[in-house]
Amino acid sequence: MENYSKSTILILSLIISIFQLQVHSSHAIPNQNVSYMKFVHNGIDLPAKEKYDYIIIGGGTAGCPLATTLSSKFSVLLLERGSDPNKYPYVLNEQGLSKAFGTEDDGKTPFQRFVSEDGVENIRGRVLGGGSMVNIGFYSRGHKEFFESAGVDWDMELVEKAYEWVEETVVSQPILKDWQAAFRSALLEGGIVPDNGFDLRHLVGTKTGGSIFDNKGNRHGAVELLNKANPKNLKVAIEVTVQRILFSDLSAKGVSYLDSTGKLHTAFIHKKGEIVLSAGAIGSPQLLLLSGIGPKSHLSSLKLPVVLHQPYVGKSMSDNPRFGASMVVQFQVVPTAAKVVGILQDNIYFQSLAGPSPFLVPPTFSLLPSQPTSINLTLANFVGKFSEVNSKGSLKLNSSIDVKKSPIVQFNYYSHPGDLARCVKSVRKLGDVFKTPTMEKIKTQDLEGNKRFMFLGLPLPENLWNDSAVEEYCKKTVATYWHYHGGCLVGKVVDGNYKVIGIENLRVVDGSTFSVSPGTNPMATLMMLGRYVGLKIVQQRSS
Ligand SMILES: Cc1cc2nc3c(=O)[nH]c(=O)nc-3n(C[C@H](O)[C@H](O)[C@H](O)COP(=O)(O)OP(=O)(O)OC[C@H]3O[C@@H](n4cnc5c(N)ncnc54)[C@H](O)[C@@H]3O)c2cc1C
Ligand SMILES: *[C@@H]1O[C@H](CO)[C@@H](O)[C@H](O)[C@H]1NC(C)=O
Ligand SMILES: *[C@@H]1O[C@H](CO)[C@@H](O)[C@H](O)[C@H]1NC(C)=O
Ligand SMILES: *[C@@H]1O[C@H](CO)[C@@H](O)[C@H](O)[C@H]1NC(C)=O
Ligand SMILES: *[C@@H]1O[C@H](CO)[C@@H](O)[C@H](O)[C@H]1NC(C)=O
Repeated sequence: MENYSKSTILILSLIISIFQLQVHSSHAIPNQNVSYMKFVHNGIDLPAKEKYDYIIIGGGTAGCPLATTLSSKFSVLLLERGSDPNKYPYVLNEQGLSKAFGTEDDGKTPFQRFVSEDGVENIRGRVLGGGSMVNIGFYSRGHKEFFESAGVDWDMELVEKAYEWVEETVVSQPILKDWQAAFRSALLEGGIVPDNGFDLRHLVGTKTGGSIFDNKGNRHGAVELLNKANPKNLKVAIEVTVQRILFSDLSAKGVSYLDSTGKLHTAFIHKKGEIVLSAGAIGSPQLLLLSGIGPKSHLSSLKLPVVLHQPYVGKSMSDNPRFGASMVVQFQVVPTAAKVVGILQDNIYFQSLAGPSPFLVPPTFSLLPSQPTSINLTLANFVGKFSEVNSKGSLKLNSSIDVKKSPIVQFNYYSHPGDLARCVKSVRKLGDVFKTPTMEKIKTQDLEGNKRFMFLGLPLPENLWNDSAVEEYCKKTVATYWHYHGGCLVGKVVDGNYKVIGIENLRVVDGSTFSVSPGTNPMATLMMLGRYVGLKIVQQRSS
């Protein structure tokens, strides 16, 4: 176990990452389509040139609620590069997750794989509904510090209303099965208190959060927020890839995009209209750069015409490092995504997932003789993250013409000593959780007859009070929680109304605007943000 090379660890952590949620093949994945198709058109059916009040780039987690909200008063075109999620039954149900993530990226999968310069494997949504259609589905509202530090003069009553609007449509209260109930007990026994029951708010202690998976396992992603739109005003185009935002001087006036046959279309905005980038934390800075808004030196090196020298586009990219441990457990549990979270005072979080183990028992362990040889094992993942990441990186284009080519992204995990110290503290706390009576029950007997956790990959360091050993563990096991953010920060690239500074008629509304990822998991706040900014725009234009 000691001699894992960095790449072995990466591969292992990838394999045993939380997508090992598959059910045995005897369980069919239910094919229950999401019904929201009213205004969805394939891009090939769109005219070569059109005009709208609002054009939204990216039909993702924030883009869908924004499009719906704006359609109450204005004509809206929502442009999404991915397809209809109904094409991928495995993303529509909790039990299909592992199939989704075992699938290779052939350019048509509902997610795009990328590897950051740090060497960490990562994923972006590429489907109508964006990240909310391929994620783990945990729903929990933003924390106080996010709202305080976002650089936005929030109307907190409107924030509350916007969250509620999202929740009435996509969020369920999970009924905890065996694994999540046990994990919940372990958190409480490990001192992560109080017990906050079920709550969507961010509260210190242990709680059951919301889920966009209902209790049948069906996913309710951002696409379902489109059902609340004014159908007369909304057009959603799928399988269209926006290439450029078009400007007249320093005013955005339209977009150019390709449909799936490679045909070029353009769309323009009416007077007083706007273009909104909701292409996500990778897609939005990428499109600004491709459109000529970014650091002059970078744009010039790619021979891209400079519309506006903006040094901060693509800067301050952050990813919350994932730490934790994976282990094989000697019994079977109901496969489960995250439903419970432990929240510490200083915004350190713990979650757990479990599913059937595709791995055999490591040779250092024995199964009890009374047990059948074909026992079904469980792979359990205990994962954690913290909100405030001080390590910052950057995003640069890898191609001046091809938007489909992943940009070069570097997060510089743990380059700031504060982050490493935070990880050490967190892993130590996880050690407390591992010492609880509930966790004792999932230990297995090794060949010497001692009961131990059957770790897969690196085991938690023996001496958690040895800082350098824990630091080493943090660095060697670093993975992503997929909550990467930044690239178009409020106060740097956009103002407090999410308007691009120095450009007329252009906003950015998605995770690229965050300097801190909101709450334990960001999806709730991204959906809220789409609704919130939409309501603000409607208010501003009618006053
Ligand atoms: C595997 C995984 C698990 C996660 N688990 C959770 C969880 O349990 N809970 C939680 O809260 N968060 C979770 N997250 C994070 C959360 O899902 C994301 O932070 C969130 O979905 C990002 O929303 P967004 O609106 O910023 O971008 P997205 O939802 O990614 O939307 C961007 C959209 O823009 C489209 N797009 C990009 N470029 C173009 C272009 N040029 N032309 C047209 N369209 C374009 C993309 O296809 C995409 O649909 C997870 C993420 C992943 C990947
Ligand atoms: C679900 O949608 C897909 C893609 O649009 C379609 O091919 C399939 O027939 C639909 N299935 C059901 C059960 O409606
Ligand atoms: C293992 O799982 C399969 C599929 O769910 C089931 O048919 C089988 O009985 C299980 N075996 C044991 C030993 O529990
Ligand atoms: C694109 O990335 C590859 C691999 O990182 C690199 O070799 C190449 O130089 C990059 N191209 C540009 C234009 O940056
Ligand atoms: C702490 O861990 C480091 C790195 O693994 C090791 O070299 C050192 O001997 C350990 N110190 C103690 C006191 O155990």
